[in-house]
Amino acid sequence: MNGVYLMKKNITYFEKPGIDNTDELIALVKERQEELGINNILVASNTGKTALKVSNEIKNINIVSVTHHAGFREKGKLETDPKIAKQLKERNIPIYASSHALSGVSRGISNKFGGVTPVEIIAQTLRMFSQGIKVCVEISIMAADAGLIDEGEEIIVIGGTSQGADTAVVLTPVHMSSVFDLRIHEIIAMPRP
Ligand SMILES: Cc1cc2nc3c(=O)[nH]c(=O)nc-3n(C[C@H](O)[C@H](O)[C@H](O)COP(=O)(O)O)c2cc1C
Repeated sequence: MNGVYLMKKNITYFEKPGIDNTDELIALVKERQEELGINNILVASNTGKTALKVSNEIKNINIVSVTHHAGFREKGKLETDPKIAKQLKERNIPIYASSHALSGVSRGISNKFGGVTPVEIIAQTLRMFSQGIKVCVEISIMAADAGLIDEGEEIIVIGGTSQGADTAVVLTPVHMSSVFDLRIHEIIAMPRP
């Protein structure tokens, strides 16, 4: 008999965005990671704190931590906490910083001349879901372009609202040159807008 194959899955919605959701978010990620047998987790972590929490809770997987580009808060400076960076290094967790895929030089153009650039419209459209969804897409492109994760393999990506984590998705990363081929397969959790 012909039919449609349906998959029913849970999405957890946090009442409010923000850092207070981090522990619960990581527990939900662990559950989905085990269910899907995913081996790679990418996490946005300015200080490294959220990446460290993920590695404390989820074992035997590859973790990559992505931080803000140098100069995001203070000229020439990264935000990574050196003590945390050392711990991540001991656990073979790379910390990656580069120009942000969904702002980059475009931000310099709009800062200088006003207006908006197409890449900033992509970012703002993704923020219609949550800040974290935009972050997940952005850091997956950055890490794929750095060769830190394989294009074409499903991974879990974690993002948040300024600090900590409140959003996680399953996606297949792509390089920046094929941004619209990126597919978000599952939303594990996000704040309810
Ligand atoms: C490349 C990059 C871009 C980010 N962009 C945003 C953003 O647009 N909006 C936002 O609320 N948070 C943004 N963040 C913050 C993250 O979503 C996350 O909450 C934070 O990196 C966690 O850092 P912590 O481990 O030091 O708490 C960004 C982080 C990174 C690394």
